[in-house]
Amino acid sequence: MPVAGQGGRTRVTGARVLSGIQPSGVQHLGNYFGALRQFIALQEGNHASYFVADLHSLTSIRDAEERRALTRGVVLDYLALGVDPARSILYRQSDLPEVTELAWILTTVTPMGLLQRCVSFKEKLEAGLAPDHGLFAYPVLQAADILIWRSDWVPVGQDQKQHLEVTRDIAVKFNLMYREVFKLPEPYILEDVAVVPGSDGRKMSKSYANTIEMFAPEKTLRKQVMGIVTDSKGVDEPKDPDASTVFALYSLFANPEERAALAEAFRRGGTGYGDAKKALLEKIVAHFGAARERRRALEADADTVEDVLRDGAARARAAVAELMNDVREAAGVGRPV
Ligand code: TRP
Repeated sequence: MPVAGQGGRTRVTGARVLSGIQPSGVQHLGNYFGALRQFIALQEGNHASYFVADLHSLTSIRDAEERRALTRGVVLDYLALGVDPARSILYRQSDLPEVTELAWILTTVTPMGLLQRCVSFKEKLEAGLAPDHGLFAYPVLQAADILIWRSDWVPVGQDQKQHLEVTRDIAVKFNLMYREVFKLPEPYILEDVAVVPGSDGRKMSKSYANTIEMFAPEKTLRKQVMGIVTDSKGVDEPKDPDASTVFALYSLFANPEERAALAEAFRRGGTGYGDAKKALLEKIVAHFGAARERRRALEADADTVEDVLRDGAARARAAVAELMNDVREAAGVGRPV
């Protein structure tokens, strides 16, 4: 598996890169450091395609307006953070109907046991979601997303590693059953920032309600940062940086000198958690300042966003046509072309 360093500067060229984001909530620092930041970096020198997985969100969001708003939000996040439609293909999953056709075909070569073992499926059941067929088949649709592009690399967070393994297993099954059509993709995971702590110190996750959202209104963002849980050490007491969530988050934004300076200030005493939180907030605001401005401008420009998606869908459909012909021909469905 290709592993990138913290700066995400691993040189790669000519690879087919594909990833998607499910519009099931607002994007947060965990999504950014775990995956999104890498999407932007990987555009350089590769053939990247990124999409909004609105069909996947059907398994958890049951309100059409909410889905539309969240889908639009993810498109704005992509564009604001630097996904560049001139270099990459940006599309909405449901605008590429070949994906659902392929998902059905893949379903017929997917062993039940493979899906039963999926941790994310089990977790969703534990969280109280009804086990309908869509939830169960979720990883097959994801496999279709990936395999339809003959993807080399799929930048994702650590939590998606198993879905990538399932994707590879499904590809192998099809290749053995019919003929060698699919390429086996590799996950592309940033090991050293795989887990970004949330405001309560656990892994940052929407389901723990501990997220810090880079594009939240400034008041909300401030509340999220100031709400980071700390121990009760007073300003003057020495503090252990390695035990501090504030320090861990600050480290994601700071250069090595700034990081060392805060660690030293914590150890020395005289620096309160409140001061460190303010420094962290400043870092977040500065880091996402330009993106926030771009996002605000795009938000008021619905036509541009729809144009980007329409163009992305047309390019995506053209790009996957050949693979889909191979699949249909190999499996003996549809009209030969
Ligand atoms: N399951 C992914 C997640 O929750 C979203 C996703 C759907 C995806 N299809 C994909 C990610 C294809 C990468 C490639 O994060």
